[in-house]
Amino acid sequence: MDLTPGTETAAVIPGPATAYQDDIARYWDQEARPVNLRLGDVDGLYHHHYGIGDVEVDALGAAGDSEREKKVVAELHRLESAQADLLLDNLGQIPRDSMLVDAGCGRGGSMVMAHQRFGCRVEGLTLSAKQAEFANQRVRQLGFEKYVRSQVCNMLDMPFETGQAAASWNNESSMYVDLHDLFAEHARVLAVGGRYVTITGCWNPVYGQPSKWVSQINAHFECNIHSRREYLRAMADNRLVPNAVIDLTEATLPYWELRATSSLVTGIEEAFLSSYKDGSFQYLLIAADRV
Ligand SMILES: C[S@@+](CC[C@H](N)C(=O)[O-])C[C@H]1O[C@@H](n2cnc3c(N)ncnc32)[C@H](O)[C@@H]1O
Repeated sequence: MDLTPGTETAAVIPGPATAYQDDIARYWDQEARPVNLRLGDVDGLYHHHYGIGDVEVDALGAAGDSEREKKVVAELHRLESAQADLLLDNLGQIPRDSMLVDAGCGRGGSMVMAHQRFGCRVEGLTLSAKQAEFANQRVRQLGFEKYVRSQVCNMLDMPFETGQAAASWNNESSMYVDLHDLFAEHARVLAVGGRYVTITGCWNPVYGQPSKWVSQINAHFECNIHSRREYLRAMADNRLVPNAVIDLTEATLPYWELRATSSLVTGIEEAFLSSYKDGSFQYLLIAADRV
């Protein structure tokens, strides 16, 4: 299918369905934090997620280096792109004639990376018209508009046919919805044998209940972080069988430690660092097969 505007049949695009989703659409329409935009400016891949991997200390320059701030921004961006690369690694083999779904696609960084890697069509969904517009503009600049598209749409009601997608994912976007509803919809659009991947923060049931730090993160982002147990149960109930569960908590700490010392702090750094360190919160990748 050619995604060039005007060549596709006009679709009715379902927008926000609830008052909460309206609030989330507004939140992301207004979001313009330097920690997202300045990092994206490094190479034109705009992410709204966190980073993984060790910081290359030499890349930061010495203390007092006049370019240090710029180097910190570039390093934080390298770590957030490494996160998206790991998600794509876990999609498995994707033929060029496939269709992929990025549910909760933000400004489209992961979609562009997916197209660059697999050469296939990538459909993104976001509640925010500003984000969809931003992602589509960036895609046009890159000349990928025949393959990559972002739409304003509720990911609980995707505009795709049953079994149409070879793979789908949520990159830090599953904490805005009920997981049973979300996984039922992924299971519907995925082909049997297709792959689903999520990277997400989740609270640790071993801790007992969401900690004060997790509550702080929920309030900051207006979201509802689920427990690790909820993810695994909701997948099991919706024909998604995990083949990899990777604990990325240790791997994300260097990103947060570097960010906490930069000029890009937003005030939520302490909550992430404390909850990861006290064990009440975990950063997980779960890859599952649609059976
Ligand atoms: C933290 S951002 C992550 C963006 C992107 N996945 C990334 O990695 O850069 C959360 C995204 O989830 C989207 N979102 C939240 N609830 C949604 C829903 N019900 N349907 C579609 N998108 C949703 C928001 O619009 C936003 O784009």
